[in-house]
Amino acid sequence: MSKTILVTGACGWLGSAIVDALLKRGDAVIATDLAVSPAIAALSAGNAALTAVAADLGEWHQVMRLFEAHRPDAVIHAAAIVGVIQAADIPIKAQRINVEGSINLFEAMRLSEVKRVIHISTEETYGDFLSDMIDEDHPQKPLSIYGLTKLAAEHYGRVYSRDHGLECINVRTCWVYGPHLPRLRMPRIFVEAALRGEAFHQVDGGNLSVDQVYIDDTVQGALLALDKDKHRYDAYNIATGVAPTLRDTAEAVNRAIPGAKITVGDSGPYHHGGKVLSAVKGALDISRAKAELGYAPRYDLQRGIEATIAATRERMNQNGS
Ligand SMILES: NC(=O)c1ccc[n+]([C@@H]2O[C@H](COP(=O)([O-])OP(=O)(O)OC[C@H]3O[C@@H](n4cnc5c(N)ncnc54)[C@H](O)[C@@H]3O)[C@@H](O)[C@H]2O)c1
Repeated sequence: MSKTILVTGACGWLGSAIVDALLKRGDAVIATDLAVSPAIAALSAGNAALTAVAADLGEWHQVMRLFEAHRPDAVIHAAAIVGVIQAADIPIKAQRINVEGSINLFEAMRLSEVKRVIHISTEETYGDFLSDMIDEDHPQKPLSIYGLTKLAAEHYGRVYSRDHGLECINVRTCWVYGPHLPRLRMPRIFVEAALRGEAFHQVDGGNLSVDQVYIDDTVQGALLALDKDKHRYDAYNIATGVAPTLRDTAEAVNRAIPGAKITVGDSGPYHHGGKVLSAVKGALDISRAKAELGYAPRYDLQRGIEATIAATRERMNQNGS
């Protein structure tokens, strides 16, 4: 039976992909974000299944009004200040949106008797990985402001679940990539340089191993968590279960684009945006998501890179760049 799902951060990168996937399978969607993007406005025009509403998650009355006016059955929470660099630059705002915004959401759910929320969380909540592959029981000792705020949202969800019967489920995904990633990070930087015919050398982080998941697989994991009847766990790693190095990622781009010259050096550990030292990373064990949710990632790195290249090439041709 189709449901009405409220999606926060619905005009963002992952949020809009989640909105698309929900609509395609016949759910009704309340898409909310700080402002309604032209893409979501166009999609909602003449589509009774999609309602787009501008609201600031940091403003309690605006959040409560969303629930009073639209009475969703469940929530997918994708709104946040996203990324290690972004959150480090505006730590107070990151706290306000990622933590206080989540509390506003949980509180409005409590008062409206909406039980389930799927929070899109992150491997940044783990901090340094203590082994090459980690499961959901790995200690969560974040080393970034971003990871800290996302972990706080997870913990608030646990308190609301325990005290008020909410079901706050955390989908811990990792480096999500795919067409039109909004921030300058690998593999986007590699793909765009290679498509422009430019050589690119990443000076540090050659040996950084990090699980990188194609956007459609993250969306798949979020929807499976939304649909699961009864959850025995409140967190799932949604990733690929393998951790290519940045050098492997560069090689995948070089294989897919004839003549591409993307290289990665060893001049030290990886720094986000060249500034903030990365935590030690690795692969996320996805056994729990496979067993409990039936999650099965469809994209390995090479296939995901090729899909990203095809979409990026199309956009660059359209923009003439
Ligand atoms: N992209 C990744 O690699 C990745 C990895 C792990 C987890 N996540 C999580 O996935 C979610 C979506 O990330 P994304 O990559 O789509 O980022 P994004 O920046 O494209 O989307 C975030 C959205 O949140 C909205 N937002 C920010 N402040 C708001 C406010 N005050 N009120 C309402 N909306 C507000 C933004 O306008 C934006 O549209 C986030 O929760 C992020 O922490 C992303």
